[in-house]
Amino acid sequence: MEQTFKHLVALTGLSAQDYKILQNTAAQTQPWADEIVKVFYDILFNYAPTAHIFKTGERTERETVLHTWYLKVTTGKLDRQFWRRIWLVGSVHIARGVTNPLMLGMMSQIQQRFLHKCLQTFEVKQAEQVYNAFKRITDIVAALIADSYLTSHRIEAIEKVKTKKRMENSLLLWNHLITAPDVDEENHDGKVVEASH
Ligand code: HEM
Repeated sequence: MEQTFKHLVALTGLSAQDYKILQNTAAQTQPWADEIVKVFYDILFNYAPTAHIFKTGERTERETVLHTWYLKVTTGKLDRQFWRRIWLVGSVHIARGVTNPLMLGMMSQIQQRFLHKCLQTFEVKQAEQVYNAFKRITDIVAALIADSYLTSHRIEAIEKVKTKKRMENSLLLWNHLITAPDVDEENHDGKVVEASH
């Protein structure tokens, strides 16, 4: 995870300045939380392939999680713990059938809505700065979620191969035992005694 994070910071160009920009504009961007969260879940609940992922009565809980996440991002105070937690989201999503294309599509929605609000709120140069800071951070979030999803899949696949190999080895051993020549029970050094014909 550490190496992946380093690559993402280097390639997106995320800098301390971005965190500062979000900190300085939190008073304006945080009140957008309710609208962004509502749009996010309206889309997911009105689209059959994603609506069925949710359990009955789960919407409030999901909205609270996303609301908290959005408020945290827009504080611009993102510590190691925040990034570590993000890296686990992919494996949580796997368990619920939330694939990376679904997650990426919705990250795009959040970013589009955030840009729209920036353009309504700030003059163009500042809107670009605030949006770019948010975009760099949320692109890294999406990449880490995707990476943790794929890593969990890889681990699962390796485990499956290991289990298959273990089963094959057991079968081979079993096969060997039932077809092996008799071992003389008196012969404690385990030498194989040729079967007499
Ligand atoms: C912008 C994209 C997304 C972000 C940032 C995000 C973030 C999160 C976070 C932070 C959690 C909580 C993980 C934890 O317990 O620590 C979570 C859980 C969950 N997310 Fe997402 N998510 C995204 C997209 C989606 C999409 C597109 C869906 C559905 C189609 C979805 C469905 C869920 C579900 C069902 C859980 C609960 C898993 C469980 O605890 O059983 N998420 N997500």
